[in-house]
Amino acid sequence: MASMRIGIVGLGTIGKAHWKVIRESSETTLVAISDPTPSALEFARAESVPAYADYREMLEKEKLDGVVVAVPNAQHVPVSLACIERGIPVLVEKPVADEVEAARGMCRAAEAQNVPVLVGHHRRHNTAVQRVRQAIRDGLIGRPVTATVMYNQLKTASYFDLDWRRQAGGGPILINLIHEIDLIRFLFGEIRSLQALSSNAVRGFPVEDTAAVLLQFHSGAIATISVSDTAVTPFSWDLASGEFDLMLGTSDRMKRQKVSSHVFAGTEGSVTLPTLQYYNYHGTVEPGWRSDLNAETLMAEGGDTYVRQIEHFARVIRREEAPLVSGLDGVRTLQATLAVKDAAASGRTIVLSEQ
Ligand SMILES: NC(=O)c1ccc[n+]([C@@H]2O[C@H](COP(=O)([O-])OP(=O)(O)OC[C@H]3O[C@@H](n4cnc5c(N)ncnc54)[C@H](O)[C@@H]3O)[C@@H](O)[C@H]2O)c1
Repeated sequence: MASMRIGIVGLGTIGKAHWKVIRESSETTLVAISDPTPSALEFARAESVPAYADYREMLEKEKLDGVVVAVPNAQHVPVSLACIERGIPVLVEKPVADEVEAARGMCRAAEAQNVPVLVGHHRRHNTAVQRVRQAIRDGLIGRPVTATVMYNQLKTASYFDLDWRRQAGGGPILINLIHEIDLIRFLFGEIRSLQALSSNAVRGFPVEDTAAVLLQFHSGAIATISVSDTAVTPFSWDLASGEFDLMLGTSDRMKRQKVSSHVFAGTEGSVTLPTLQYYNYHGTVEPGWRSDLNAETLMAEGGDTYVRQIEHFARVIRREEAPLVSGLDGVRTLQATLAVKDAAASGRTIVLSEQ
């Protein structure tokens, strides 16, 4: 099977993670990169990878089957549109765009040109996440009742040296919570309404450092998410799952605590992530709090989430699979995440279907 010829636009933190997996996988070949910074250009040229300061020049000169768009949020739409106009499928990093209408326009252009768009909500490619989705679909937890999600960790002081990370939009709601919203939509379905509180009390920057969100799903299930970049805990997906290390290409550098950051509970049982514990009362005469709960561990195959994502992108390019995270999925996740900001600012309940 021919290897798909991939270009990367934006060779920063996540661009370099894509670089690594594109080169590792036999299904993809790294053809060229584009980034205006001299250090990125030098990095690529030192590895004999053609490098362009202007991505349009790369798109004109190189024969590409697909492009990974890993530039800052505000440029996701213009760069993706330039690819779509040329009929080139894109894997665009999350958030799909920095605002909903522009993202919708991009999806319309992609549909009109029949060009697939995959959004980089990479967690959907994680095998433990897929195992929990299958468990919920198979009825292991019964009717979904509630989800409890924690994304609480301490970011380093130097992380905030960059000014934009202290300003509105640079905080954990748009950077981190968006992954939780996408994951919870993937596992529990569409969100009907939400409420939120946010606080900047600890760091005192214009942007929030902590937030709490209440969600109600169309199914009637309810979820809570707490997110903070100033609380010292291991209870966050990035730390507990090991994906932070994967993203930085430093696998197993950091010691992982065996804790659950997510609990998905229903009328028949509950499952946890990333620990894959499954609690139930199977075999109990009268299920309930007076009996012992059974605790089992669900099994999932291994695999690097980012490799799985890029190999899925190769199959999307070959039109063998539909994108696991479509452009419209990205829009819905972005819409709900922006609604969290509105809900926190206004103190109102936001009903998503009315937006
Ligand atoms: N899926 C994930 O886990 C994940 C993780 C981190 C970042 N991201 C997303 O990836 C995107 C990039 O984030 P980052 O942390 O890598 O940022 P970054 O600042 O480290 O890298 C961005 C790169 O894009 C380059 N760039 C800017 N304008 C460009 C242009 N017009 N053409 C080509 N290159 C250009 C910059 O020079 C820089 O090297 C963001 O949208 C972010 O939300 C996703």
